[in-house]
Amino acid sequence: MCGIVGYVGPQKPSTKPLDVVLEGLGRLEYRGYDSAGVALAAPELDSIAQAKKSGKLVNLKEELAARPLAQATAAIGHTRWATHGGPSDVNAHPHLALDGKLAVIHNGIIENFFHIRRELEEQGVTFTSETDTEAAAHLLGIEYQKSGDLTEAMRNVARQLHGTFTLLAVHADHPDTVVGARHDSPLVVGIGDGENFLGSDVAAFIAHTREALELGQDEIVTITPDAVHVINFDGETVEPKHYTVDWDAAAAEKGGYWSFMAKEIDDQPQAVADTLLGRTNEKGDLVLDDLRIDESVLRTIDKIIVIACGTAAYAGHVAKYAIEHWCRIPVEVELAHEFRYRDPIVTPRTLVVAISQSGETMDTLMAVRHAQEQGAKVISIVNTHGSTIPRESDAVLYTHAGPEVAVASTKAFVSQIAAAYLLGLYFAQLRGNKFRDEIQAILAELRDMPAKITETLNRSGRVKEIARWMADTSSVLFLGRHVGYPIALEGALKLKELAYIHAEGFAAGELKHGPIALIEPGQPVFVIVPSPRGRDSLHSKVISNIQEIRARGARTLAIAEDGDTQVEAFADEVFWVPQCPTLMSPLLTIIPLQIFAAELAHAKGLDVDQPRNLAKSVTVE
Ligand code: F6R
Repeated sequence: MCGIVGYVGPQKPSTKPLDVVLEGLGRLEYRGYDSAGVALAAPELDSIAQAKKSGKLVNLKEELAARPLAQATAAIGHTRWATHGGPSDVNAHPHLALDGKLAVIHNGIIENFFHIRRELEEQGVTFTSETDTEAAAHLLGIEYQKSGDLTEAMRNVARQLHGTFTLLAVHADHPDTVVGARHDSPLVVGIGDGENFLGSDVAAFIAHTREALELGQDEIVTITPDAVHVINFDGETVEPKHYTVDWDAAAAEKGGYWSFMAKEIDDQPQAVADTLLGRTNEKGDLVLDDLRIDESVLRTIDKIIVIACGTAAYAGHVAKYAIEHWCRIPVEVELAHEFRYRDPIVTPRTLVVAISQSGETMDTLMAVRHAQEQGAKVISIVNTHGSTIPRESDAVLYTHAGPEVAVASTKAFVSQIAAAYLLGLYFAQLRGNKFRDEIQAILAELRDMPAKITETLNRSGRVKEIARWMADTSSVLFLGRHVGYPIALEGALKLKELAYIHAEGFAAGELKHGPIALIEPGQPVFVIVPSPRGRDSLHSKVISNIQEIRARGARTLAIAEDGDTQVEAFADEVFWVPQCPTLMSPLLTIIPLQIFAAELAHAKGLDVDQPRNLAKSVTVE
């Protein structure tokens, strides 16, 4: 939520500060696109040069074309997802203080801003926006006047703020410096040669460097062209952790596709394959990426609680079926924001599994901390290296989906399922629920899935056609059973967020307990049909559900596996997927639903990469 970029460096044609920041904002726009702005400092400027505009980044670029800014040596930029104050020019960041000598940008929510604002107004400070950020900007201005030291001023401000924040500041009198602070909100450092970068995530500077520093909680960072200095809120010097990003700028580009969403849907075979790669040690046993818990503790676990939000929670829901089946440990799946406030029963023998693409979702992070406070161990399944959730977890299993830029999640979802399955098999190995050859056989089934996903993608012509025909549909229902149930929920979520169509997913068995009342002539219903080769009666039960809704006029669109000879007679349309074991089927059945949602949204002329009101990384509660 909100993208932040900071840059200090030489004014080379390749790295003009304004261009670096605008390019970074382009890559971070998925974090929020209600407004965008930049602030620049240069030795020849007495005050900050700034531009800001409501709406997408393109509006800011038009403004800059019409009213160019002077070149600079330090620059900060912001793309906003509005919280306090609507998406207007005046509420866009940066916010200025000290008569335009100081500029601040912010991600997060300052909970005590009202109190600070009232105190500052009593001291005669005039506010021009409705944002919480402006309070931080004026406070920083006052602190700076006390010491003339921007880093020290930032530290003093950070200690006075409550809530969550990443703040970046530039001051006209220090045109070679950007200072940042982070508390429960992301900020990473990019290391260059005679130039340095700050970003909400590495996408901000990936075109320039893959060398990065991970900042901890409650730290202040000061970058100049030749140095990075980090202190904590107590003023002590901190040595940040260095890492090299394992993807490059090309991975975060559309590569000829009409949208990031279309590319990321097609990336899914690779995302799953990469997630499965290199997971065993020399003995052939499964290993986690970063294990900071004693294995003996994991052997005593008597309950797993999966916490996540949105699509990641549906991946957890799928994994519940597999982990319970393989390991005979009860698995609960809970939305992170509900878990935290429900007084859940958590003991030292509870293992919490946090799933998150971004590794920064505030609801999930807070739930991780809540679980740890109660003595639970936390293993996270995360896609983004250098993010907060893996750093705070007791162990990590990274998904290797590569950068996911489209706001709605696709390739992260399938790789989360693959990683959660690896975790389930790791437990089965550790606890001796399965013999090594049984685990190897399931791993082999998993490794077959990328090719089957490719095959499913190759068959997408018909679903695209149907999606285009259905562009004016106002409601679509999704039914599934067993692992097909979370897929129905995810299919409905994709359609809601991409095409703004009313969509609901149901457990097929629940139909007769209420939702069947929604069926009226012509109502489109997707049905995820379990394999006829799988658990005995499930298939026939779902075939009966299809008949029940069809009898009431529904238009049935089935997703079924090759060789299902019964389904065709009852469905209006069948989208076929290759045969695979039941527990593997979610990796295939979700594909036509993702494509349906993306194509239908595209046919309606909507922006599938940046749907309205959403942001990719939800770093506020
Ligand atoms: C939906 C979607 C969201 C995210 C959710 C959690 O397409 O992308 O529902 O899955 O906001 O985000 P992460 O996985 O980053 O914690």
